[in-house]
Parts: sequence; structure tokens; C-alpha cells
Amino acid sequence: MSIGVFDSGVGGLSVWRAIAERLPHEDLLYFADQCHCPYGQRSMAEIRCLAEGITAFLIAQGAQVVVVACNTASAAALTYLRSRFAIPIVGMEPAVKPASEHTRSGKVGVIATEVTFQGELFTRLVERFAREVEVYTRVCPGLVEVVEAGNTDNSAVEAMLQEYLSPMLEAGIDQLVLGCTHYSFLRSTIEEIVGPGVEIIDPAPAVARQVERVLVREGLLTGRTGQGHYTFYTSGDPSTLAWQLQQLVGIKTTVQAVTWRKGHVQPGKPR
Ligand code: DGL
Repeated sequence: MSIGVFDSGVGGLSVWRAIAERLPHEDLLYFADQCHCPYGQRSMAEIRCLAEGITAFLIAQGAQVVVVACNTASAAALTYLRSRFAIPIVGMEPAVKPASEHTRSGKVGVIATEVTFQGELFTRLVERFAREVEVYTRVCPGLVEVVEAGNTDNSAVEAMLQEYLSPMLEAGIDQLVLGCTHYSFLRSTIEEIVGPGVEIIDPAPAVARQVERVLVREGLLTGRTGQGHYTFYTSGDPSTLAWQLQQLVGIKTTVQAVTWRKGHVQPGKPR
């Protein structure tokens, strides 16, 4: 059995890494839908179709649990995926609950894509857990592209982050929720900008704990003791993802090409 993990691109590798650390013996499949990245500006309906095609592909490759390592795809498709597939599906949501519990200033910031904020999931989260606090939200165009290009350490990225974060910092937030998995790879620059007075919340470790709970509940934990087997797929360029894997999570491996055809994912390069 394997755990299937997917995202529009490399952002979900932050979740993949947390799962690999917590569950080192499990086999992991990672799918980066890089020919459709970024998802953040696509319609909910389109993202649902993409998430469905990817989930079906991962199940066909042996996944018995699927992790939607993407806040955007979770916002658009999680409920739908759970209605379509019988296996457990673990999703992501911006960590508004822990942020609201930890805040002393009563002000929390959330950065994410447009679709994530539009989804019902986010509205419900704020209604349930953040009634007593002020939530400052910000869409951050361009950041996903920066992470995909591996261009994270430069003054242009710093300037973008300054622009996006300044209003909520001036408002007095003391919690910042990373509501897009790509942003984990910008964490050191974000830390420098927000300073020590603001706690940064990355939900990746919490998602890994949830995956473990699901595996235990379903009796799916492998009994093996060696390191799990890791497989990577991309609908984009395999050599680019291989390079990104080395840069972002220090893994040297080959990547398998997949192709979209009429809403389905197939192994192999486009003909
Ligand atoms: N990494 C994703 C997320 O967590 C998707 C970003 C995008 O493709 O726009 O939202």
C-alpha cells in the first residue's frame, strides 16, 4: 500500500517531507500537476476535475490513502473527492484554529490563494474558530511561481513579501498562517520580515499527524522497518521536477512523466 500525495506543483513537497519524516517506513507517491500550475487562479470546477483525475491515477498506482497537499485543491475539491472515492482522503485547511488559540493580540494573518479564500471551507473555519479574533487575509500573486522557478532568495521576492505582509503587520498580527503549501519554502524570508514577535504556522506537521492517525485507524501501517519507497510523477517536465526535488527536499531521484488525456492521467510523456 502507498500514500498518494498531490499538489499543483512542488508546494506539497513541504507536506510530503513532513509525512516522510513522521512515517519513514511508508511508501509515498507524489504527483505534481505542473502543467496546470498554478491552481490558484483557476475555477473551482476546473480544479475539481483535475483533483479527480489525479486521485484516480494515484489509486490506480496503489494509493490507499490520498493526501491533498494543496490548500487550493482542498478548498475546491475535498468534499467532492470524498463523495467520489471510497478511500480515506486527507485534506488541508489554513490553520486558523491554532492561530486563534495562540494569539495574544487578537489579530491573525492568513496568506493563501484566491480560491482558498473563496471556498466554503475557509468561511466555515473563520466562523467556527475565529469569532473572537480579527483575521487579516491576503492573496499573494506571484509567490507560487517564484517557488516553482527556484528563485526564492533574492530582493524581488523580499519586496513582494514586504508588500503582502506589511498591512497585516501594521495592524498588529502576532500569528501568520501559511495557507498555501508553496509558502513553506519561503519561510526563512518570511521569518526575517515578520520578526520574532510573529509566530508562523505551517500546517504540514499537523497533516502528517493526521495521516498517521488515518493509517492506524484503517490498519494500513506497513509492518516493514526499512525506508519506504518514493515515487514522483509530474505532468510537466520530469528533469525540472528532479532538479526541484534536490533543491527543495534534498532528494536525488528520477521522475516519471504523466500525461493528461480527456480528463484522465496516463503514465508516459505526451505523444
Ligand atoms: N500549493 C497550493 C496551495 O496550497 C497551490 C498553489 C497554486 O497552485 O496556486 O494552495
